[in-house]
Amino acid sequence: MKKDPLFQSLAMGDLRLKNRIVMAPLTRSRADNSGKCATELMAEYYRQRASAGLIISEGSQVSKQAVGYQHTPGCYSKEQTEAWKQVTQAVHEEGGLIFIQLWHVGRMSHPDHLDGALPVAPSAINPNIDVNTPSGRKPSVTPRELSVGEIKDIVIDFAQAAANALEAGFDGVEIHSSNGYLFHQFFASCSNTRTDAYGGSMENRTRFLFEVLDEMKKRIPENRIGLRLNPSAHDYHGMHIAEDTLPTFDYLVKKLNAYDLAYLHLSEPFTDVSDVPYAETQICRRFCPLYQGNLMINKGFGFDSGNAIIDSGEADMVAYGAPFIGNPDLVRRFQEGLPLAEADRSTYYTTGPKGYTDYPVFK
Ligand SMILES: Cc1cc2nc3c(=O)[nH]c(=O)nc-3n(C[C@H](O)[C@H](O)[C@H](O)COP(=O)(O)O)c2cc1C
Repeated sequence: MKKDPLFQSLAMGDLRLKNRIVMAPLTRSRADNSGKCATELMAEYYRQRASAGLIISEGSQVSKQAVGYQHTPGCYSKEQTEAWKQVTQAVHEEGGLIFIQLWHVGRMSHPDHLDGALPVAPSAINPNIDVNTPSGRKPSVTPRELSVGEIKDIVIDFAQAAANALEAGFDGVEIHSSNGYLFHQFFASCSNTRTDAYGGSMENRTRFLFEVLDEMKKRIPENRIGLRLNPSAHDYHGMHIAEDTLPTFDYLVKKLNAYDLAYLHLSEPFTDVSDVPYAETQICRRFCPLYQGNLMINKGFGFDSGNAIIDSGEADMVAYGAPFIGNPDLVRRFQEGLPLAEADRSTYYTTGPKGYTDYPVFK
């Protein structure tokens, strides 16, 4: 009998995924300690979900400056590197694979996270949205424009964080170049008006990402690097689609073929963009023909639609976000046709085990 596409294994470089059901990166704000270190509770949470073909960890900052949310873990200090080992070990003990998502939020931060300093960005343009702070949501501020020297320092931060991650036992890293954070701010003309080598042309606006890839692959194998993009993000985290937005992503994705990456992770639009000029409503369909490596697709998938998109040949894997919060045994529930539990949104970002490690497996 032919297996459902989601249950077929998949080669990813020298790794083999036991199924194509990926746990999408999910910030859960449980690193509630001064060192922003992974905890035993986090190890338990990831252990419970290790039946996924691949887990992508919550976004984890590459430096002190990269932070934008309370209680998110880092991957830049020795202490953080050590603390992650309990997480990777727990997942490996259950036969799972885990990548860490590395991020820098850029202008999506606030001075309250940064000892009063301004957030940094490609250009000094306020996203004019509310951002998270330790004391609730506040209006965003106008960020400070990064100097070229500072951009080069952040390139090193990403490469060093990737090296730390592999030392901590992660099977690879995902560069968080989506959802309106720092890389995305470089790609978009609404947030990047630089006139130097990092602004203007598509080549210039994507330069920072490729510099990070080139530096990272000196430190960890290229096929242990994945990358996330959200090309049709609109009215989301300060991003707005313009005439040059999709052509920039076309250019970027084609250029990624020169790298032997673990995968490219794409999101279908997070908001309804059917009436937005220049937006693409079918991300997977548009980018599949442009990319030769493993393609992961996310947003809004269920079991049937996940199988269908793999069957169609448009994607190789499906990343599930919210379904993995309330269903630690999501893979089994899919396999046995069991009903899915609804996750409690009120505990998405709260501390402690409630709404985190206390979701039961199906009985
Ligand atoms: C609680 C929560 C936290 C999230 N944190 C992250 C994150 O750290 N990094 C990221 O790239 N996406 C993050 N996302 C987006 C998810 O990865 C995913 O794109 C989203 O949940 C849509 O997928 P779904 O329809 O399967 O839930 C988060 C989503 C939720 C609900």
